[in-house]
Amino acid sequence: MNSYDIAVLAGDGIGPEVVEATLAVLRKVDARHSLGLGFTELRAGAFAYRDTGTDLSDEVFDRARKADAILLGAMGWPGIRHADGTELAPQITLRQRLDLFGGVRPIRAIPGVPLPLVDPRAAKIDFVILRESTEGLFFSKDKGVVTRDQAEETLRMTRGTSLRLARMAFDLAGQRARRLGRSGRVTLVDKANVFRAFAWLRQIFQEVAVDYPEVRHDAAYVDAMALDLIRRPWDFDLLPTENMFGDILSDLAAGLIGGMGFAPSADLGEGHAVFQPSHGTAPDIAGKGKANPTATILSAAMMLEWLAMRDAGDAMAEAAQEIRAAVDAAFSEGLRTADIGGTSGTAEATRAVLSALR
Ligand SMILES: NC(=O)c1ccc[n+]([C@@H]2O[C@H](COP(=O)([O-])OP(=O)(O)OC[C@H]3O[C@@H](n4cnc5c(N)ncnc54)[C@H](O)[C@@H]3O)[C@@H](O)[C@H]2O)c1
Repeated sequence: MNSYDIAVLAGDGIGPEVVEATLAVLRKVDARHSLGLGFTELRAGAFAYRDTGTDLSDEVFDRARKADAILLGAMGWPGIRHADGTELAPQITLRQRLDLFGGVRPIRAIPGVPLPLVDPRAAKIDFVILRESTEGLFFSKDKGVVTRDQAEETLRMTRGTSLRLARMAFDLAGQRARRLGRSGRVTLVDKANVFRAFAWLRQIFQEVAVDYPEVRHDAAYVDAMALDLIRRPWDFDLLPTENMFGDILSDLAAGLIGGMGFAPSADLGEGHAVFQPSHGTAPDIAGKGKANPTATILSAAMMLEWLAMRDAGDAMAEAAQEIRAAVDAAFSEGLRTADIGGTSGTAEATRAVLSALR
């Protein structure tokens, strides 16, 4: 039996709660399909920093780098900060050090989950934000220059990463088009009306679009997109964007499908990948058993799919599909987590998904 080493970084706040739920689901599909998953739990995060002086030790980083995939809960805690006032964010350090440029963030309406938009077309929401996750304004992390009279942060994009992001966007749109039986569409989200860097990024996307004649291609300004994601989110397919824009639009988009507890993500590079919910450590509900584990469970399904694409076998892809179907079945059959006005906490939601796993 093959063996796949999954580094597990549960992190802070609700991170360990949603990871525990997800490991239960992964163990069940592993037993059924003999996937050969092995889990190595590692400590990193804001509380690790408080206790040990480092949020991501070299040893933990090295162990995670050598794993076949990394499953992450969430990290950071508002009360634990650097002297400059910023928070600990080892999840961002991981993206930068492992060159995980492609933040894939699917936004899909799960059948049965009440949606905030009253338009019945909201049930068809199914798009992906592709957040560039190593550059953009986040290039400036820990590099900002602040004096008494001025504060300056620098946005940077490189041609190499922008080309890889564009190709990833068109490849993903092509894969989705085949799976969903519809034509694919890539809409670059930028601010090319004001900034030269974004006009330059548009040109890079146009260069790459030539190689994908079967995928429609256009672009939109980020402010207009914020409006359109509320007005007509069902119209979009693949939305590549700069790091900071993707960070903000991801939360807005999660709001369309029930909240952060429903928004999974995968940070992909060429050799490594981190799978984690789009949400943070939710200090307001941490330790109360109320966290919705769905986003992390769906992130784990993305992890199995990614392993399958890297030759881990069809059983991984089948297990991923089963997890997604179980989540859909659980909510269709009445599961209502606390974040959508229900009474089910983390443990009950996990049990519902486990029992829906066919
Ligand atoms: N990737 C990460 O690890 C990550 C991402 C974002 C924020 N953070 C950190 O998390 C901390 C809290 O940040 P925040 O409050 O801005 O964002 P957050 O995503 O933690 O919480 C935003 C809101 O969504 C709710 N929420 C989030 N996940 C939920 C879940 N699974 N189930 C039910 N409700 C959920 C929270 O209760 C809160 O009301 C900060 O320290 C921040 O730096 C970490």
